[in-house]
Formats: sequence, structure tokens, C-alpha cells
Amino acid sequence: MKSKILNVSFNEDFSKKSYNIHIGTDLILNPKIILRKFIEKRKIIIIHDSYFSLQDNKNKYLYKFVESIKEYSSNVYLLSIPGGDKTKDIFHLNKLIENILSFEIDRESLIIAFGGGVVGDIAGFVSAIILRGINFVQVPTTLLSQVDSSIGGKTGINSKIGKNLIGAFHQPLAVISDMNVLESLPKREFNAGLAEVIKYGLIKDISFFEWLEKEYKDIIRLNQLKLQTIVTKSCEIKAEIVKNDEKEKGERALLNLGHTFAHAIEYFGNHDGRIIHGEAVSIGICLALKFSYFLGFCREEDLKRVANLFEKFNLPTSFNNFKNLSLSSAKLIERFKFDKKNKQNQLTFILNKGIGKSFVHNNVDINDLTQFLDKEI
Ligand SMILES: NC(=O)c1ccc[n+]([C@@H]2O[C@H](COP(=O)([O-])OP(=O)(O)OC[C@H]3O[C@@H](n4cnc5c(N)ncnc54)[C@H](O)[C@@H]3O)[C@@H](O)[C@H]2O)c1
Ligand SMILES: [Zn+2]
Repeated sequence: MKSKILNVSFNEDFSKKSYNIHIGTDLILNPKIILRKFIEKRKIIIIHDSYFSLQDNKNKYLYKFVESIKEYSSNVYLLSIPGGDKTKDIFHLNKLIENILSFEIDRESLIIAFGGGVVGDIAGFVSAIILRGINFVQVPTTLLSQVDSSIGGKTGINSKIGKNLIGAFHQPLAVISDMNVLESLPKREFNAGLAEVIKYGLIKDISFFEWLEKEYKDIIRLNQLKLQTIVTKSCEIKAEIVKNDEKEKGERALLNLGHTFAHAIEYFGNHDGRIIHGEAVSIGICLALKFSYFLGFCREEDLKRVANLFEKFNLPTSFNNFKNLSLSSAKLIERFKFDKKNKQNQLTFILNKGIGKSFVHNNVDINDLTQFLDKEI
């Protein structure tokens, strides 16, 4: 299968910042071709998900990756951190920073994030702040990180107050998305990634949404060609949005469809694995669609169609699946107040005027929201 190279460039940045996303197979086994110019004679720090280890005889991805990098740099350091949102905290951030500084790095050193969205977000944030910013490369190993978190330059960690509240915009030098590495991903994690994929269709591409409806059986079977199409299409849609609005002053907020609800659900789930990000997004998107219908913006048949697609991938679509979180409308609205999209104490939600037509809805009426949530919980 031929690999694809997508270029992401930023219109608002006069320094003409841009980078390539490499999407294909067998890329991790031989990354030196893509990375040579970034790694030659530099100190390389690979922050990797502890799922991968050099000693693993079955899963050789990290081992082969490191061997290939070592052909161009003799100073390669590895730091391992667990996946899962609990790792994205100030404690792990501090530990990474102190370790990396002990390697006597300089501003030419390069960090490589090798793992899912959690590793990518925290390693990206370390790169953004260490020595006031050094370069980094993303090697996403989950579907969610390949289609979403590895591109667009949002990096960060969670605070006790809420998710992703500490961070920086810091773009990678390159992204390497290898379809092969997804083979070991647990089904639940794979499905969670699909929630973000469906999101892109819902935001602005009804034909992609329809393609997902048509191809779902092949997708479930991990057909590599279909997977590559999913990753490529998702990256294209995201890149198109972020290139015009890198720092989220406008259109980029659309990528948050379902996320106001999702982040609140994750908060009450205590990031303990009962609900993972993509599952919370799946519920969040269905709620955003239902809320759009409640306010008269979309049709009932749209809701059914959307929930149907999520269900095909075994994703949760309502609070029913999570009764044990003992949520209430008041508790949820309290959480919504911490959302980064809000301005001047007014709540903002991303809603839909139909499939493929998301929009930013400012100044949401608390009474409407309470009435809606009381019905849903
Ligand atoms: N920066 C952004 O723009 C952005 C966008 C979307 C999501 N996110 C963040 O991404 C995070 C979620 O990312 P995620 O879903 O990748 O979670 P994750 O990084 O926790 O990975 C999920 C699980 O899969 C394991 N894993 C990773 N690669 C594997 C592989 N190839 N085979 C087997 N197991 C593997 C991990 O150890 C972990 O247990 C959240 O923190 C979310 O906030 C960020
Ligand atoms: Zn997300």
C-alpha cells in the first residue's frame, strides 16, 4: 500500500510554519527515511507508552524504531509512561522534565512522542516548555491519536479542576501514522477512536459520514486500505480547519463538537478507565445532536442516524450506560462553566443544523440546558 503525505501549513503564521503527516504501513520500522534531517547528530528523547518495550519479543515496533533512529544519532534516551488519562498530570510532567534535563539536552535536541493521545499530549507539552521550547515529532499509536490528537499542535495536561486546562499550542515537526501498529490496539480503544472520526463527518462532511455508514463492516475488520482512508480523510478535515485558525479564535472550536459534555462526563468518571475519552465523546456528540434538536436546529431523523452509526461501533450514546456516575443537571452545568470555549461567563456549545453542518452557539440559555439535561439523565 502506498503511503500518503499530507502537508499542514498555517495561513495566519507569516513564518510559513508547516509539517508533513506521513500515513501508511511499515513506517515505524524504518522511520530514518522520514526523520533523518531532524535526528542527525542530535540528542533524541523518546517518550513512549509503557505498553511498548524494547524487550517485548512479540511487539517489536519500539525496538525497530529505536534501532533505525540510532543509525543517525548515537544519543538516544528512552522514557516510559503509562497510557490512560491519569498520566496526564503535573506529577508525570514534572518527572519527565527532571529526567530530560538530566540528559543535558540543548535546544537542538528532539523529543519523540511514541504512543497514544496521552503520551502525545504530555510529551508535546514538555517539548513546548522545556528550555522554552524544543522540537518534537509525533508517532501516534492509537486510532484516536492518528486521526486527532497528533495533529493541530494542542498539547497539555489535565488539572484537578478539569481536563486539558494546562497546555500550549506547539506544532510537531512531523507526524508518522503507521496502520500496522493499530493491530494490537484493544477493540474498545479502536472504537473510541472512531468517535472522533465520525465527528469529522458530522462537523463538515456528510459524504464522509455516509461513507462510514456504508463501509462499517470493513472498518470493524480493520481493513488496512479503509483504515488508511479514515486516517487520511480525518487528517485532511482537521488540517483544513486548523490551518486557518491555529489558536482557536473561531472555526477550530467546531472540532469540539460533543466535547463540552464529554469533558464533564470524563471528570465525573474520574479518569479511571470506566469511560475513556472517545466513549465520552460518543455520548457527548449524541447529546449535542439531541440538544440541537431540542432547540429546533436539526431533525429527529438526524439524531437516530447518528446514534445508529455510533452503535454499529459499539459506542455508548446516552447517559444510560453510565448511571453509576450519579450525574445531575446542576452538577453538569457547574462543570460546563470550566469549558475553554466560554466567554464572559456565557456558555458556548457546538451544535448541528444537520449532518455535516456544525456551528458555534454562544450564550446558551441555562434554563433550556437544565430542561434538556433533566430529560436526558
Ligand atoms: N491534543 C489534541 O488535540 C487532542 C485531541 C483529542 C484527544 N486528545 C487527548 O488524547 C487522549 C486520549 O488518547 P488515546 O485515546 O490515544 O488514549 P491513550 O493514549 O491513553 O491510549 C489508550 C490505551 O491504548 C494503549 N495503547 C497505545 N497504543 C497501543 C497499541 N498500538 N496497541 C495496544 N495498546 C496501545 C495505551 O497504553 C492506553 O492504555 C485524551 O487525553 C484526550 O484528551 C487530545
Ligand atoms: Zn476528543
